Amino acid sequence: IHTIGVMTSGGDSPGMNPGIRAVVRAGLANGLRVIGIEDGYEGLLNARFKELGARDVGGILQRGGTFLRTARSMEFKTPEGQRKAIRNLNNAGIDALVILGGDGSLTGGMALAAQGVPVVGIPASIDNDIFGTDMCIGVDTALNTIVDAINKLRDTASSHNRAFLVETMGRHCGYLAVQAGIITGAEMVVVPEFETPFEEVATAVDEAYKRGKLHCIIVVAEGAKLNATELAQKLEEMKLGFDTRVTVLGHVQRGGKPTAFDRFLATRFGVKAVEFLLSGQTGVMTGLDGREIVPVPLSQVVSRPRTLSEEYMKMARMLAR
Ligand code: F6P
Repeated sequence: IHTIGVMTSGGDSPGMNPGIRAVVRAGLANGLRVIGIEDGYEGLLNARFKELGARDVGGILQRGGTFLRTARSMEFKTPEGQRKAIRNLNNAGIDALVILGGDGSLTGGMALAAQGVPVVGIPASIDNDIFGTDMCIGVDTALNTIVDAINKLRDTASSHNRAFLVETMGRHCGYLAVQAGIITGAEMVVVPEFETPFEEVATAVDEAYKRGKLHCIIVVAEGAKLNATELAQKLEEMKLGFDTRVTVLGHVQRGGKPTAFDRFLATRFGVKAVEFLLSGQTGVMTGLDGREIVPVPLSQVVSRPRTLSEEYMKMARMLAR
């Protein structure tokens, strides 16, 4: 391997920039040429390539988003698209790829690896929904953003005696919601993985009011069956004592300076990805297993739902008194 390509794909996540920087500098330190591929698989299909030197990745460690930009590509999913991508890689002399992204991006990486392109994936998604790694890049920063927002909502909720339904991102995964619920002391958490009947939510609100609480925070994961707005309407109709408001945190959760944890994790993943490629490993993802970074075959990772800890759900309920 003489030249590696690095790209970010799918939804961005804070920490992608430190990840790219680590791949570039670790590549250069090992005598490789490094090419940045812009706009994810879209850029791969359109040969949007630029060589990256050490200085090109200076000053990005502390920036959210991805300076290579990202996209979601339908064309790449087709066999024709993948052939075109491989042709572009060959024309540019790119021998191997490091792909930072979520499940869809890693699925694309697996398809390329199956067709002979050496690929290492790095899990980057605020959702923390990727199997085979304890943490993905961006989760910690998103969680800190959520906690900060809920702390603020709690101030105003207590001042007005209100119940707030706070919608968090996560697609089909309730990780952000349950973690945030535990560490902000939310009265209730609603996630896609565990069914929560409306009556349970209503009881939590009712009890919080009767216990004399000045506020009630309910964290609702966006993928949950009971959606935050509908829940608020139904709770309002029940007149349980609190006024009801909804806050959808939305894409603010995807931005911002990566936290120390995310910078370090992304840096470790980036360095390991280069190491894996140089040792001939392909079709793998860098996975955090306890304190170690290990290669996990992409075939064991993609399209495999990550289970949400029931213990954390119980913890959230037990402590909300
Ligand atoms: O996968 C990251 C994520 O932010 C999900 O939490 C969310 O459902 C989705 O992406 C939003 O996608 P978009 O940026 O296309 O609106």
